[in-house]
Amino acid sequence: MKLASRHLLGLDGMSREEIALILDTAVSFREILDRPIKKVPPLQGKTVVNLFFESSTRTRISFELAERRLSADVVSFSTAASSVSKGETLKDTARNIEAMKIDMVVIRHAAAGSAHFLSRVVDANVINAGDGGHEHPTQGLLDMYTLREKFGKLEGLRVCIVGDITHSRVARSNIYGLITMGAHVSVCGPATLIPRDLEQLGVKVYHRLEDIIPEVDALNVLRIQLERQKSGLFPSLREYHRFFGVTKEKVSKAPGPITIMHPGPINRDVELSADLADSEHSVILQQVTNGVAIRMAVLYLLGTSN
Ligand code: CP
Repeated sequence: MKLASRHLLGLDGMSREEIALILDTAVSFREILDRPIKKVPPLQGKTVVNLFFESSTRTRISFELAERRLSADVVSFSTAASSVSKGETLKDTARNIEAMKIDMVVIRHAAAGSAHFLSRVVDANVINAGDGGHEHPTQGLLDMYTLREKFGKLEGLRVCIVGDITHSRVARSNIYGLITMGAHVSVCGPATLIPRDLEQLGVKVYHRLEDIIPEVDALNVLRIQLERQKSGLFPSLREYHRFFGVTKEKVSKAPGPITIMHPGPINRDVELSADLADSEHSVILQQVTNGVAIRMAVLYLLGTSN
């Protein structure tokens, strides 16, 4: 089986079989990460360019590691040190890079739709590493991988995404992916940070953590984007923490242990208490490790199917 598209732009519209193919492929790559020699040859001779127009720690390092472990030649680009700072457009930047004969492009950009746009103007395979508030498909995939690793399945799993859903590409990719895989997905946050039409996607909406905590297997806690406070979407970080901060005390009300996830970077003691982030119920660092395996799987599937 192959992926239907030459690109990975989002999880919206991706079939259950395709998601399962990526997760299953990642299992073999995850095993390779535990070996003393972590390099394998499938992308030998291929050139991958990482175009990061927005800051990133995890995604950028994870993609670079994944590419190098598959033996690709890797070029990484950041906006500040490039001609973008002199006014060059995304289209010109991409076409100039492609003229240097590259095979794959990984792009992170603040504009929703930038990865789709790029896929229409270059011949290379395009992988979306986060486009504005739209999608972050490899994060959605690594979150599903981590849940499947922990629980052995996604079908019927009860997952609540907590926080700023409206502005979150991580939330969107998780919702599309998890629903396709048969999980029960809910969200919880202030009404100002949850889109009004979300229930149409099959997602249950909660505004009190106390109501959802007894009902879930896992909480995926999102970073509260500190700049949102200035726009009046929630009154103060203290108040946000009081009502929506996930703490040991709040999760202790659940009938059993709840798995704690976070895409990073964490605002400790704002959306998630530091002790819970570091507790035995947290899989936050497993998410990061699994991210490399997921990105290897995506690069492998796209890069070897041409
Ligand atoms: N999860 C995530 O996308 O983190 P970075 O912004 O550090 O890449």
